[in-house]
Amino acid sequence: MSDQVLNQFTPTVETKQEKAASKFRYGIIGTGWIAEAHATSLLEMDDVEVVAMADLIPGKAEAFAVKWGFDKSKINFYPSHKEMLDNEQLDGVSVCTYNATHAECTIYALNKGVNVLLEKPFTVTTEEAIEVLKAEKKSGKLLTIGFQPRMDLNMQEIKKIVESGELGKVYYIRIGGGRRRGIPNSTFIEKKTAGIGALGDIGCYALDMVLNAIGYPKPLTVSGYKSAYFGPNPKYNNPADAKRFDVDDFAAGFIRLEGDIVVDFITSWASHINTPGDTIILGTEGALRIPSTECWNGSVGGNMTLYKDVAGLMTEVKLPLCPDVPGGLFYQKVRSFINAVRQGLPAPVPSSQILYNQAIIDGIVKSSELGREIDISAAFEGLDI
Ligand SMILES: NC(=O)c1ccc[n+]([C@@H]2O[C@H](COP(=O)([O-])OP(=O)(O)OC[C@H]3O[C@@H](n4cnc5c(N)ncnc54)[C@H](O)[C@@H]3O)[C@@H](O)[C@H]2O)c1
Repeated sequence: MSDQVLNQFTPTVETKQEKAASKFRYGIIGTGWIAEAHATSLLEMDDVEVVAMADLIPGKAEAFAVKWGFDKSKINFYPSHKEMLDNEQLDGVSVCTYNATHAECTIYALNKGVNVLLEKPFTVTTEEAIEVLKAEKKSGKLLTIGFQPRMDLNMQEIKKIVESGELGKVYYIRIGGGRRRGIPNSTFIEKKTAGIGALGDIGCYALDMVLNAIGYPKPLTVSGYKSAYFGPNPKYNNPADAKRFDVDDFAAGFIRLEGDIVVDFITSWASHINTPGDTIILGTEGALRIPSTECWNGSVGGNMTLYKDVAGLMTEVKLPLCPDVPGGLFYQKVRSFINAVRQGLPAPVPSSQILYNQAIIDGIVKSSELGREIDISAAFEGLDI
């Protein structure tokens, strides 16, 4: 039985590097921490030329270029996304700014006819995500959202298992994961830059892992909760960071999806429990346990277990772990964006899916503030998605 089940899940990986006559002209907007993963991946690609970098902080983009080994004389530096996009002819940009400027930079790039790889989370609010989506449709350009776990073979396996029908109809998902202690700092902990905290940092990955697996059904209602008992407390956070901390460090939600599916969600940067538990997917013909995972790095937290009845016997199959992808997840994330643009393929991580992810996150925030369940489906009415 186990071989029969396992043989259905042959891993696939993107390895193709398009040989093109002209180089792909690339720009990086926001040269902070995550830009490193984009820049170092781009440096490995023969068919790509990084020609422009922008950052609001004077001198930061130049210092970034030097640090990561770019030839500074071949790059134009700009004080914001606007100057860059007004002055350059680009094939694609990575938007690596903090969450609060995701929408503004992405819309500006799309309006200028530039393809965009936007870092996660999509935006801060649903309204912003819808504005980006409209700009994308109008521009006819490609927008993909930077969820690198999508490139991970174990993560892809979860989707394949659901699609294989082994679980039957999925009706309940509990999302585990989350940290006992792991509050970031820098621009992640203030509303003016991040907009949202743990929800936008790691919660969006946990949601994407399961929603992608089940084909991103439309979310209907959300009953959400968020709190911040650790981040602003100098007992649990460094005092300078505690002082400026004004986002969520914990959130939970109960989400109803189209197709009579419910999702029980939890995320945390800090709590007193070792782990909020594993992720479980329950279906009418089987169930899947995904060990508690950080999600962002794409690794499942150990072997997944598939539960099924076989000829009347309750059976468990421990699934083997898949190998790492060549070049790593970040390389594959950037590469899949460039390949999609060059080969006219669909976006690797489409905004139409991540709109639902963002609407759930925003729904948790709004429901928590209102103290009751809210209907989030009205926001999608009339949208071309
Ligand atoms: N995919 C991942 O694993 C991963 C990991 C970390 C961060 N991120 C995401 O990446 C984004 C950036 O995170 P970070 O840690 O690099 O933040 P950061 O604060 O280190 O860097 C962001 C940079 O963007 C610049 N910036 C902001 N608005 C700008 C604009 N309009 N034009 C030009 N520059 C602008 C800022 O000055 C700053 O230097 C966040 O949205 C975060 O969620 C993703």
